[in-house]
Amino acid sequence: MLTEQDILAAAQALRDGELVAFPTETVYGLGANALNPIAVAKIFEIKERPRFDPLIVHVADVSQADEVVESIPEIAQSLMEKFWPGPLSFVLNKLPCVPDIVTAGLPGVAIRCPSHDVARGLIRAAGVPIAAPSANRFGLVSPTTGSHVMESFGDRLSFVLDDGPCKIGVESTVVSFMDTNDGLPKLLRHGGITQEQIESVTGAINTQMHEESQPTSPGQLSRHYSPATPLLFSNDDSLAEMKNGKSKIGLLGFQSPSSSEDFAAIEILSKKGDYREAAANLFAAMRRLDALGLDLIIAEPIPEIDLGRAIMDRLRRAAAR
Ligand code: TXA
Ligand code: MG
Repeated sequence: MLTEQDILAAAQALRDGELVAFPTETVYGLGANALNPIAVAKIFEIKERPRFDPLIVHVADVSQADEVVESIPEIAQSLMEKFWPGPLSFVLNKLPCVPDIVTAGLPGVAIRCPSHDVARGLIRAAGVPIAAPSANRFGLVSPTTGSHVMESFGDRLSFVLDDGPCKIGVESTVVSFMDTNDGLPKLLRHGGITQEQIESVTGAINTQMHEESQPTSPGQLSRHYSPATPLLFSNDDSLAEMKNGKSKIGLLGFQSPSSSEDFAAIEILSKKGDYREAAANLFAAMRRLDALGLDLIIAEPIPEIDLGRAIMDRLRRAAAR
């Protein structure tokens, strides 16, 4: 159990320019004082993250958001009212106090108010906005438990606030209000708030998910969220060829295995076919399969509605070679 003392000590470390790993409702974050460029540089170092990949700034409430962005357009305000605190990040024009390293030199900064009590308590206690990517090495599977963070960075961080598994399990949805002519946001990354939920407020919006040539959001990089074991969809044309001669094959299934094949290991994301449950289990299941030294992981595609979009997005990137 985390105590108030743990959170206060971690908040002090953040103010001192140190890194702190902390839980959010989506995935664990690796945080630094967003207004301290030297502290933020440590995130890029330890994650081995390319400097062109900007970070999300976490705030405790809308008034703290006002301290880092120029203004909040009306539609963004409506979305914040509906979905904050929660897994929705907004890219808005930044104020000069936000260091360039946070936004990778872009004029927009991504902001999000997490709903996790520990995350908000930590931001409040620190008294500064917290820049935080997911607490994993760049390109690898995101952490949804404190132990996942310990596996990657345990020996290198003085604070890993462990509060058990993350409830949502996939990262926040990212919408951008930069360069919009119609005032409507562009969807840069599918995540915990579904496109359907956003469109219930805004009407139909544009998605900019697959512009590989010049990613405005590196969540768009094709290979990301990757286990070390090759991963292929069960409907992939090259599956037969890939399976040839391989004996240790694992299945990442949605509801129940659709084939009766003898797998070396099987992970089912949600027996009752619930997208929320499946999202919450996704990264941990990928990590468990990846730890088994399998030759191949076969993933079953799932319908792309609601959280199914975010799940398929992560699986596609994990499958990209
Ligand atoms: O749920 C989450 O969003 C988690 C937790 C810790 O809050 N954080 C997270 O951060 O997933 P990260 O760094 O793994 O992913 C941030 C995504 C990336 O795709 C990044 O490119 C995009 O947000 N992003 C951040 N700042 C941006 C900006 N200024 N313009 C466009 N995209 C931005
Ligand atoms: Mg990440």
